[in-house]
Amino acid sequence: MRHFKVGIAFAAIAMLVAAPAVKADEIVIKFSHVVAENTPKGQAANKFKALVEQRLAGKVKVEVFPNSQLFNDNTVLQAMLLGDVQLAAPSLSKFGKYTKKLPIFDLPFLFKNIQAAERFQQGPAGQKLLMSMESKGLIGLGYLHNGTKQLSASKPLRVPADAKGLKFRIQTSDVLAAQFEAVDALPLKKAFSEVFTLLQTKAIDGQENTWSNIYSKKFFEVQDYITESNHGLIDYLVVTGAEFWNGLPADIRTEVKKALDEAIAHGNKVALQKAVSDRKLIMDSGRTKILQLSDSERKKWVEVMKPVWKKFEDQIGKDLIDAAVASNVGS
Ligand code: LMR
Repeated sequence: MRHFKVGIAFAAIAMLVAAPAVKADEIVIKFSHVVAENTPKGQAANKFKALVEQRLAGKVKVEVFPNSQLFNDNTVLQAMLLGDVQLAAPSLSKFGKYTKKLPIFDLPFLFKNIQAAERFQQGPAGQKLLMSMESKGLIGLGYLHNGTKQLSASKPLRVPADAKGLKFRIQTSDVLAAQFEAVDALPLKKAFSEVFTLLQTKAIDGQENTWSNIYSKKFFEVQDYITESNHGLIDYLVVTGAEFWNGLPADIRTEVKKALDEAIAHGNKVALQKAVSDRKLIMDSGRTKILQLSDSERKKWVEVMKPVWKKFEDQIGKDLIDAAVASNVGS
């Protein structure tokens, strides 16, 4: 008994002495994102935290900040370069300030579906794009899916002329601005965290987003119509600061990357499920009307929006666009 007590006392002292040293050495990874936890990105981030803390306990600690709690997507990359955050996964539409190439993902009607986007992302052209911002201090660690975009509005949108004169919130992307200008609408670049209030107060008429974001941020409660347009996609680039990443001990970096790849695979599964289940929840809510486009209606959107490609061809590169188009084979 006496031995036991002494043992406990000794262990307690050892822990007290050891604890600060371990904490001081612990690498902290702050992962900032803007969406709800119950989304593909939210679930991937939480999975990453769980895996890292299980496998690298005491060595690496992950802190996840969802719902724009820490930064919004317009400030997170700057914060990353300053070392204030180590991981983020902004949508591919939000890197225009750092690379001319990633805006390819915003070209309207580029990919037939998520599977085609996946083929492009995992192919040589997509993999090369991960490093397209290295000279700016940012490294892409992988792609994560959310889903295809739908158009929501305060009035029914069946043909492009219906969007004329309406104000749409867009992500910070010049391609998306051109896409809405092509239908004579007024695009406004606004942070994701502002969208619900802008819609609710009718400061804007509509927005484009995935089923998962429309559901988890309740946009469907303040929009009377959603046109099932699937005219583009929201996928993410999981990004880190080059200085932070290259400064990690090699064995830790390998483990962190492995956990991230597994977390992305998990998030991608959630994305496929949510594209179906959140759509159904929105439909079942009866709060909004989901409009299906006939083939001829859809053709009109394609005809009016597709010339946007030409506008950005020099910037993005025809070879890259051709590689993306080629990934549609089999979809
Ligand atoms: C948006 O701003 O609409 C999206 O990029 C938000 C997100 O991260 O899915």
